[in-house]
Amino acid sequence: MNWDDTGPDDSATATPGGPDASAERLVGSVADGEDTAVEAALRPKDLGEFVGQPKVREQLDLVLRAARQRGATADHVLLSGAPGLGKTTLSMIIAAEMGAPIRITSGPAIQHAGDLAAILSSLQEGEVLFLDEIHRMSRPAEEMLYMAMEDFRVDVIVGKGPGATAIPLELPPFTLVGATTRAGLLPPPLRDRFGFTAHMEFYEAEELERVLHRSARLLDVSTDEAGAREIAGRSRGTPRIANRLLRRVRDYAQVKSDGVITSEIARQALAVYEVDERGLDRLDRAVLESLLKLFNGGPVGLSTLAVAVGEERETVEEVAEPFLVREGLLARTPRGRVATPAAWAHLNLTPPASSRANGSGQTGLFGM
Ligand SMILES: Nc1ncnc2c1ncn2[C@@H]1O[C@H](COP(=O)(O)OP(=O)(O)OP(=O)(O)O)[C@@H](O)[C@H]1O
Ligand SMILES: [Mg+2]
Repeated sequence: MNWDDTGPDDSATATPGGPDASAERLVGSVADGEDTAVEAALRPKDLGEFVGQPKVREQLDLVLRAARQRGATADHVLLSGAPGLGKTTLSMIIAAEMGAPIRITSGPAIQHAGDLAAILSSLQEGEVLFLDEIHRMSRPAEEMLYMAMEDFRVDVIVGKGPGATAIPLELPPFTLVGATTRAGLLPPPLRDRFGFTAHMEFYEAEELERVLHRSARLLDVSTDEAGAREIAGRSRGTPRIANRLLRRVRDYAQVKSDGVITSEIARQALAVYEVDERGLDRLDRAVLESLLKLFNGGPVGLSTLAVAVGEERETVEEVAEPFLVREGLLARTPRGRVATPAAWAHLNLTPPASSRANGSGQTGLFGM
């Protein structure tokens, strides 16, 4: 069994300007170097250990159990969800549950159909092929994959020009596990060839607490219930972020106190790192504060808001806004960015009377 999984996360980190180009942020969901180094040790190894995602776990358990009972190779599985929710982890669990070896590669690593043919033709029967960032594969490779998934066959092209011939090559049955943060970018013919698609959701705070207790045990960190709860609430529904905050709080606990993570220690540590009770960091708060204090809650155009914050437009739009929108603190409207009542409450500010009276608050917000 190959648990050495530095490959796919390396390429994920290298994603330029992806939807969350924020690897250096403490609350960024893309893996940074330190994450990659410790994540292998923190990955649950079977479905029973995998916390949360009850629907996905139940469905996947059925798919894998049935395949095992039939003595067959499991159907192809697509894992879709935001960075850090456990796609790579699940792919390894699938292989472990099937007692099969796993081969790891990623869309960006497959630039030519020939690259894919080489991998496919060297698979063993029943092997799991994990294709991370499958939406970033090249077109010709994608088309080769269609046939491989459906008929376990590829056409290898020999020669060039008019004399080129396609030699069909039989493949042993294998399970493709594709992972994507952008399921919408997958062409429908590819999506349709997966027998099962798992949509990974953000985690509940209570689930993240369990992730944290488990990680604390593995890292030999002592944390009490309230300490784990404090970190979980600031982890943006994402196990990777929870594990990262745990490491920073551990540092603080070790240097400033007796190493035990209590809620007070967690609060103090995360205040130092400027991660607030809801998981907003300095940038998120700067965006909200400008929107509220300089523009009375909006609407204001993205470019104007970005200038006010002193950041690039793309940074505000791709790094800060998605989480603010998800949290219901900011809305993107055709007239510009608008703060919701929750934003005023979160920053302890009172909305101006006019915005409450004329309805550019709650009701005017989404009614366009
Ligand atoms: N359900 C879970 N239970 C416990 N730990 C988890 C779970 N999901 C993820 N983790 C932890 O979070 C870390 C990140 O998970 P993983 O690398 O699988 O995310 P990913 O979805 O593949 O992210 P990316 O899109 O960046 O590749 C893992 O090291 C693992 O320790
Ligand atoms: Mg991954």
